[in-house]
Amino acid sequence: MPAILSIRDLCKTYDDGFEALKSITLDIEEGEILALLGPNGAGKTTLISTICGITTPTTGSVSVGGHDILTSYRAARAMIGLVPQEVALEPFERVINTVRLSRGLFGKPRNDAHIEDILRKLSLWDKKDSQLSMLSGGMKRRVLIAKALSHEPRVLFLDEPTAGVDVELRKDMWDIVADLKSSGVTIILTTHYIEEAEAIADHVGIITKGELLLVEDKAKLMAQLGQKQIEVQVSEVITSVPDALQDHALELTPSGEALIYTYDTRAERTGITKLLNDIAAAGLILRDVQTRQSSLEDIFVGLVSGEKS
Ligand SMILES: Nc1ncnc2c1ncn2[C@@H]1O[C@H](COP(=O)(O)OP(=O)(O)O)[C@@H](O)[C@H]1O
Ligand SMILES: [Mg+2]
Repeated sequence: MPAILSIRDLCKTYDDGFEALKSITLDIEEGEILALLGPNGAGKTTLISTICGITTPTTGSVSVGGHDILTSYRAARAMIGLVPQEVALEPFERVINTVRLSRGLFGKPRNDAHIEDILRKLSLWDKKDSQLSMLSGGMKRRVLIAKALSHEPRVLFLDEPTAGVDVELRKDMWDIVADLKSSGVTIILTTHYIEEAEAIADHVGIITKGELLLVEDKAKLMAQLGQKQIEVQVSEVITSVPDALQDHALELTPSGEALIYTYDTRAERTGITKLLNDIAAAGLILRDVQTRQSSLEDIFVGLVSGEKS
């Protein structure tokens, strides 16, 4: 299946010379949820803004449903819904009118059935005649999503949909995203919360300092994150892993003073008890034991150093 969104060698250098995007290449399949995970300042909003035509790319290309965002801007943009990071709504406008108006801005004919469907899906139907200023923060975010869906886009961008929202609203947002996916919309969301990527994405892209470090199936990435290491320091220098410990898949540190054991924190049995018993039985005396959890940062560091070698 061809990608619904195709990004090739996309670079963005701002007027002050800052390189916010460094040669991003990415394909997104129709119907998937991609979470772009990265710290503040990584370039997430710049990437979305460039795809949506709010900022212009310096070099490289993007096409949406086969339409180039520069040469076929209107066709490409019509396929996209954007929920921006910042909430900006007309305070005295009413919910249903602002959503209708958004649709009109894309030159689409009025379609009350579609607007009703969106508002019901987002639990906004009861509030359709409310003024926007009267709504809670959570409801305002729902209105932004309704606006973004008003013209029947096939690709929806959600820029940090849950930054600064409470736990309950975050959960609601995840449910909304899951519902949208089942209705066939392709979703790209940005987040700096790893739990968010874990909860809802099919694929996870990691972006930092304008570079896309990897795009990976979520399950594979989470397996990496679930790994923990235990470092067992022994009181004498050894030159190889003793035969009696061969079953444990240990690594010897270059100094010969410690053995490293890697295990999955979510496994039913970690194997630590048996390992420590076997080490004692092999006649080794423990000097110290330390554990290390692999974190997103380790994956960053691992990837970046991997690129250099
Ligand atoms: N208009 C601009 N001019 C210069 N630098 C900018 C501009 N907009 C964003 N930046 C810089 O680009 C980097 C990426 O910003 P942004 O895309 O907003 O990151 P994120 O959304 O991942 O937090 C930041 O260092 C930011 O300061
Ligand atoms: Mg941002």
